[in-house]
Order: sequence, then C-alpha cells, then structure tokens
Amino acid sequence: MKHRLQCIGCSRIFNPAQIPIYACPACGDLLHVIYDYDSLGKKFRESVRSPGPLSVWRYHRLLPISLANVVSIAEGGTGLSRSGRLARSLRMSEVYFKNDGQNPTGSFKDRGMTVAISRAVEIEANTVLCASTGNTSASMAAYAAKAGLRAIVLIPKGKIAMGKLLQAMVHGSKISQIDGNFDAALERARKMASGRSGLYLVNSINPYRLEGQKTLAFEVWEQLGRRVPDVVIVPVGNAGNISAIWKGFQELRHVKLTARVPRMIGVQASGAAPLADAYAKNRQEVIPWPNPETIASAIRIGAPASWKKALRAVRESRGAIIRASDEEITAAQRLLASQEGIFAEPASAASVAGLVKAKKARLLAPRETVVCVITGHGLKDQKAAAAFAGL
Ligand code: F0G
Repeated sequence: MKHRLQCIGCSRIFNPAQIPIYACPACGDLLHVIYDYDSLGKKFRESVRSPGPLSVWRYHRLLPISLANVVSIAEGGTGLSRSGRLARSLRMSEVYFKNDGQNPTGSFKDRGMTVAISRAVEIEANTVLCASTGNTSASMAAYAAKAGLRAIVLIPKGKIAMGKLLQAMVHGSKISQIDGNFDAALERARKMASGRSGLYLVNSINPYRLEGQKTLAFEVWEQLGRRVPDVVIVPVGNAGNISAIWKGFQELRHVKLTARVPRMIGVQASGAAPLADAYAKNRQEVIPWPNPETIASAIRIGAPASWKKALRAVRESRGAIIRASDEEITAAQRLLASQEGIFAEPASAASVAGLVKAKKARLLAPRETVVCVITGHGLKDQKAAAAFAGL
C-alpha cells in the first residue's frame, strides 16, 4: 500500500486498513492522505511527461487506489479558457477559467467521486451515503450507478436546485429529504455511517474524495505549460475543494515539479460566511452560523466541515477568504455568461465575483496569472438562471 492517513490535528499516522476514515481515533480531527513523495516522485514526474489526454486518473501515481478498482466515467480533463473581455475590463493581463462544469455530472464533485466510489469498491462497501446541497448527491448517484452500489442521499428539504435533485433521482438513489439545513443533514449522515463498515460516507470529510479533487491543480499546472498560477480563486462552502486544490499544488512542490505555489483565495456568499468571518477577525477557530442564507444554494453552509484545512490553505499560501453578496454573485454569473460564454451556477460564479472584489481590494496585481475555478454548470439551477434572465 502506497498511502497512509494522517490526522491534521495531532499528526498521528495510521494504516488505512485499521481505522474508520472520517476522524482521527485519537483526537477526532479530520484525516488526510499522505505518500512517500521521495519514492513516488520519479514515477509521477515520468507520468506527467507522457503524452495523452488530461484526466483524473492520469495522476494515479499520487492517488490512493489500485487501478483494478477504478470506477470512472471519464472525469477531469476540463477546459482552461483564457478570459478576454472580462480580464480587460478589470485591467488584468492573464485570467483563466478552469471550467469544472464540464465534468460528467456537471460539477467538480466528479473528480472526487471517482476516487471515493473506487475506494468503496476496494473496501467492499455495498452502500454509499452523502449529505448534500445537490451536486455531491448528483455525482454520487451517477458513480454508484456505474459501480452497482446502493446510494442514499440526505438533502435539506426544499433547499436544493431541481436539476441536481433530478440527477440523483434518474441515477436511482434513495432520497431522504430532511427538515433542517445542510449542516444538520451532514450531522445525520455522519451518525448513520459511524461504526457501519458496509455503509460508506462520501462527503468531503472522506479524505479519499479530496484526493480526486486535488487533480485540478495538476491539470492547471499542465495547461499553463507546467507553470503554477500566482492566484487561484475558489468558491467555498463545506471547504473541501479549496483544501484539496491547495494539497495538489503542495504535492507538485513535494515531487519537485515546482518551487512556487499559488495564493489561494476562497469566496463565500455573504449570507453563509463563517470562514470569511474567522479569517477577517484573525480567529483560530470558525464559529458556525446557525441559519446560512444565499441564492447560491450549493454553498449555503454554516458549519464548514473542512474549516481547519481551508484556513491553513489560505494562511500558508498567504491568500485570503473573502465574501460576495448575492447581488455580486448574480452580476458575476451574468458577466461570465454574456462576456465569456460560460454558463455557471451561482455558487460557481462566486469565484468570479471574488475576482472582481479581490482586484478592487488590491489583492491582485495587474500582471498576475489568476485562475478562477468554475465549479458547476448553470443548467443545474434553472430557477436562479430564470430569475436573472427575467423570466
Ligand atoms: N461550488 C459548487 C457548485 C458546489 O456544489 C459546492 C459544494 C461548492 C462550490 C463548494 O465546495 O463544499 O468543497 O467548499 N457543494 C456541496 C454539495 C456541499 O453537497 O454538493 P466545498
């Protein structure tokens, strides 16, 4: 086995075969996957020199799954498009959109889900489970269908976009709508999964999922001609994705493919911004918000599970976590659609709202290379789109 799990709190290292994966048995903190980078580095460097299309599994040398167990629907390999008009209007010379809405189920979750579901197959789970604001459930449902696993979805009643609910339904998940918000749903899912080996929880507290999501960093590095950007801007909800992308860039450094790493800028919706709050007040801990509210339903989250990983990512990288109002998010969604040809759901457009704000706040210099992560396709949330289209 080439990987180990390490606690992000007490740093103890565990053999993955021996412990449940959602929390450190010693101190309860989250875990992350670690490798022996010195021994794997050479093979990884060779694999990224080989020609061939970009994809999550191109990077299997730094993924914790044996290839025999892989469940894939051709995820990753998403476009990096260079901004024209929007960048010019902001007086920025090099802005890119990494369009993860191009994944099989229309969001970045597929990068993580291919790894999490492969791991479920590897450990012979029979059922997978998640709490979701929509995209995780759509993705899990598709990969569970492909793998022939049962799938259970917990969603906050009336709070997720119809497109995403339909995806989970057509792929055959069992859907349980709960009273309460996403945070309550995740709490319930954690309890359901605890101590039950056949039932595998694939939320982003599952460290295997984040391994898949880190591959966005590898792809961006390749797409920019083996160069890391100066800044990466990411929408933040449960805070798994920004943590995963940061891990990817750090690993590029561990295997000596880059000496530099980017600044990570997270963007939360103003109505659901506990991390931005902790960052602004320079607190060491995040205080959950009981009633998060925003039009960007995918990131309507008051108690981000990966808060500690995310705060570390922005502090270590000398980035920031900022907030954008619903008006700013909707304006960014419109700009992306009308000037760049990219239709993003509101939560995705938060990264572009963040770009505009970060430039105004002088967090970005005009000549810096900036990548905004577009996390999910606009067709998923037709209600939000209809509102901005004036229907
Ligand atoms: N953008 C979109 C489109 C999302 O669906 C999510 C999260 C995020 C950004 C934020 O990513 O949680 O890793 O910080 N959606 C989750 C879900 C919570 O259940 O689909 P994060």
